[in-house]
Amino acid sequence: MAQYFDNVDLKSEIRKFSTSVLGKDFSFFTDNGVFCKEHLDFGTRLLLENIPWEEVKGKILDVGCGYGPIGIIASKITGQAQAVTMCDVNKRALHLAERNISENQTEGIVLESNCYENIFDTFDTIITNPPIRAGKKVVYEILLGAKKHLTSLGTLFLVIHKDQGAKSVLKELEKEYHVEVLKKNKGFFVIKCKIR
Ligand SMILES: C[S@@+](CC[C@H](N)C(=O)[O-])C[C@H]1O[C@@H](n2cnc3c(N)ncnc32)[C@H](O)[C@@H]1O
Repeated sequence: MAQYFDNVDLKSEIRKFSTSVLGKDFSFFTDNGVFCKEHLDFGTRLLLENIPWEEVKGKILDVGCGYGPIGIIASKITGQAQAVTMCDVNKRALHLAERNISENQTEGIVLESNCYENIFDTFDTIITNPPIRAGKKVVYEILLGAKKHLTSLGTLFLVIHKDQGAKSVLKELEKEYHVEVLKKNKGFFVIKCKIR
């Protein structure tokens, strides 16, 4: 299947891990060349465990979905499988996200998109563990660009570490959104942003 992917030079070694989040069990296929291939990332888990899910209704977008944990877990927790869209620039990750949707018996739309380039819809909720390694420009494009892709009462949820510039990100977010820090743990900030 290697020809399917962008990162064809990186040997494929598909593996699978199982985990439990908020009392629900999940299994994920991962591979070389995708974010956090061995286990559910600590920041992603913290984000998922601190989103007030009772507030999350309607259409959900997971930006930088990787192998799909945020979108898939969101669809299972909210019970809104058909309303979840996931996007990423990494074709290998997108392929895994599709496989993981079936593996976890849910549904979702998986799209290749550089930030919001191929996203033409608006969403009630955008959730992201942003790609710090892609650089500040991409991170801000995802976080501030969310505003154009949220409905008027929409919410952005994100996680970021203090060593990855959480404090300066917070300052920038406060210019555009009503911002609330939902949780701080081990240097990670889980942040909720509402359109002003
Ligand atoms: C920190 S990882 C999070 C992955 C996954 N959501 C998780 O929590 O495990 C960030 C993801 O953003 C993706 N990414 C990098 N640059 C991007 C861009 N310009 N547009 C969309 N996604 C991007 C990466 O490929 C990676 O999968």
